[in-house]
Parts: sequence; structure tokens; C-alpha cells
Amino acid sequence: MERRYFISQAALLAGAVGLPSWGWSANNLAWETGLSEGLENAADEEAWKKIAGQFPKPKGFIQLEHGYFSHALQQVLQFQHSQELNIQSNSSFFMRREQVQSIEQARAALAVYFGWDKETLALTRNTTESLNTIIQGYPWKAGDEVVIGQQDYGSMTESFQQASERYGIVIRYATIPLIPENDDQTINAYLSLVNERTRMLHLTHMINLSGQVIPLDKIIRKARALLQKERMLIVVDAAHSVAHISYSWKDCDADVVAGSLHKWMCAPIGIGFLKIRKEHISLFWPLMADRSIAKTDIRRFEHQGTRPIQAHLGLVEAIKSQAMFGSLRNKAARLYYLKNYWAEKLMDVPGVQIQTPLSQERSGAIANIAMDGMTAEQLTAALWDRSKIFTVAVVHPAIKGIRITPHLSTSISELDVLVNSLKDISRKK
Ligand SMILES: Cc1ncc(COP(=O)(O)O)c(C=O)c1O
Repeated sequence: MERRYFISQAALLAGAVGLPSWGWSANNLAWETGLSEGLENAADEEAWKKIAGQFPKPKGFIQLEHGYFSHALQQVLQFQHSQELNIQSNSSFFMRREQVQSIEQARAALAVYFGWDKETLALTRNTTESLNTIIQGYPWKAGDEVVIGQQDYGSMTESFQQASERYGIVIRYATIPLIPENDDQTINAYLSLVNERTRMLHLTHMINLSGQVIPLDKIIRKARALLQKERMLIVVDAAHSVAHISYSWKDCDADVVAGSLHKWMCAPIGIGFLKIRKEHISLFWPLMADRSIAKTDIRRFEHQGTRPIQAHLGLVEAIKSQAMFGSLRNKAARLYYLKNYWAEKLMDVPGVQIQTPLSQERSGAIANIAMDGMTAEQLTAALWDRSKIFTVAVVHPAIKGIRITPHLSTSISELDVLVNSLKDISRKK
């Protein structure tokens, strides 16, 4: 694979402190591979096959459950392994002399990726840690209210429930349809619950159960207009939307955004982020105390003790590797294409329900389906037994079905196996 690096101030700085001097430029995080030709066309199988070949693939089964985390590109994994070896070789020398620069380099690279001020960006282990910092660290008073989604991720719902038990806050659950008729339905589901006691509005950008994308900017805009003078923070769970759908994070007007970079950024497992608007940084208590860092410094949310810094180093490589796809638009369009490729073929099959909106604005790679006469568990088991297709059963008060998540590593022939298997199962059940 051909790679062309760009030299930048940051790379020179990294070299000066003895860190690996991968050439990334602040203006152009480049990882040129010569593979991006044809990728503007989401249906160009020849072009996308070359990308698929860059991921490690499982043996003996078809992996269609990439919603848990996204596997990393081979090159990123190799790089991360080499960095782990370096850390293990130099051991405490790395931790004492080079760790801080490595973290700062990762922070700077991620800030460039998002178009954010790096002083608002903390590197955590995942979304769960980031959002627990926010939910458990807010200075709640009894009677404060929060509005969250009924389909929010379980760990966040439980964190709010713990805060309710601990501090006496009131949780209001917004119920949105699986396939909303229009954006106003979703907006109203949230905003009709907001009142002068609401201190936090928690929005899951892409719902993990179904893959539905909510109209984030519209909700935020209306929420701000509604409560211009009130103290309500807008918090976004972006675990599934970052580096997956085409969205301008630079323009996102939320107070807090949290995400997991081992999902669609394809970074090594165990790296996430927490972005807090500058004026709110001092508001929150960190999960793990660090008295040496100023209350206004975002780094006070990074006190985790000894941890695998190779994940931070691998993150920089993963960010650079995004250039391989030509653009986020190309990547998002391909992920969306893969989902719609199989979902549209099943839409008219009797007894099959697609439980995800299929428009490009409201979905990406993930969709959820149900089949009449079968539980979600039975359907996942049938797919496995018949065709060794791995999916996950979703059993939730709001939705029961199986979640199917292809990735850039998924081939069209694998999706054809899925379609034929589901048609076959629907005939024989
Ligand atoms: C919407 C959403 N939020 C948060 C998480 C938690 O991510 P992590 O396990 O990386 O903390 C997930 C995981 O799938 C998710 O789907």
C-alpha cells in the first residue's frame, strides 16, 4: 500500500520529543493510499472491495453485528501493536517521559478531525465513561429534571436512574416512534417534556436499537429557542453517529458530546471522547479526582490511572486512515448503501417488518427487522443455524427484533446470503 505523508509542525514536534513522527498535518490529516478512486460511487463494488480487504475478517461465519464495535483496519492494528511493543520495551520511561505528549497528540488530531478546540476535548475510554462523568458529575439538586429518550442506551438510562436515587432528580422519558412520520413528531416528543426545572436534555443521535437517526440540529435549535434563559444543558450521545453518518460536528450546538472511537472511527478498542463547551468544564465533578489540574482544564476528566496509551497512539493512525475513504460522505454513503441493499429487498416479503427509517437523513448502516411468528432470539438463532450469519437480538419495551449491521468490510455476496436466508426462513416458519 502506497502511503504519502505530510510534514507538519505537529509531526516535527512529535519527532523532537522522540515520538513516532507520523506525518499528519493540522490542515490535512493525510493517509493517502491510492485506494480512494471510485469511492464516490457507493455501488462501485470493485472500488469498495479494495477497502473491504483492509479489514481483518472472521473465519467461518458472516459478521453482521458491527454495531458492538467496529473492527480496525489491519494497518491501524499493526501500528498499535508496534506501539504497544515500544511501550512494553521502554516501560516506565514511556509513561514518565512520553505518555503526556502521546495523549496531547491524540487530542490535537481528534480536535482537527472534528473542527473543535482541543481544550474542550477529553480522551476517555468510551462513551459510557464520558457520559457517566456528565451524569454523575453534574451538581444535581433534588427536584431537578432531565429529559432522556426511552430508547437511550441502557448504561446511560441506568446512570440517570442512579442519579435519581442518589440526588432525587426526576427523569422524563421521551417516546419516539420507530419510524416517525416527520421530524416534528420526534422534536415534540422531547420538547413537550421540557420545563423550567429541566437541567439536562439527553439526546442519542443514532439509536443503537434500531439505527434511527434523530433530527439533532432541529431539536437543539428548538430547545435553545424554548429555553433561552434557562439552565438546561444539551448532551449528545454520539456513540454511533461519529465517523458513520455525514454530519458537521463543528457546527453542532450541543453543550456536551460524547462518543466511542472504537466504533465507526475504527480506532483500537478502549478510546472515546468527551467534549464539553468551555464555559461548562468547571461545572462537572470528574469521576476520578485529580486535584492537580485546574477546574477549567478539560484534562481533569482524564485521570484513569495506568492505561493502554497504545489506544491513543492507534487513534491518531485511525483518524489519518479516514482519508482512505476519500471523504466522510463516501464512507457514510457506502454504509447507508449496504443497509438499504438488503433492507429494500426484504421490504415486501410477507411477515417481515423493517423497523428503521430507510432515508439517508434518518439512518446509516444499522437496521432492525422483525418477522411475524418468531421472537428476536429465534430469528438470530435461525440465521446462525442456517447460514452462520451473526446478528444480535434486541429485546426492549420499545422494539423487538434483530439488529443487522454491515460494515465497510462486508461484501455484497454476504448480504445476498442474508437476503436469501431471511426469505427462506420466512417461507418455512
Ligand atoms: C447509543 C450508544 N451509546 C453508548 C454506547 C456505549 O458505548 P461504549 O460501550 O463504547 O461505552 C453504545 C454502545 O453500543 C451505544 O450504542
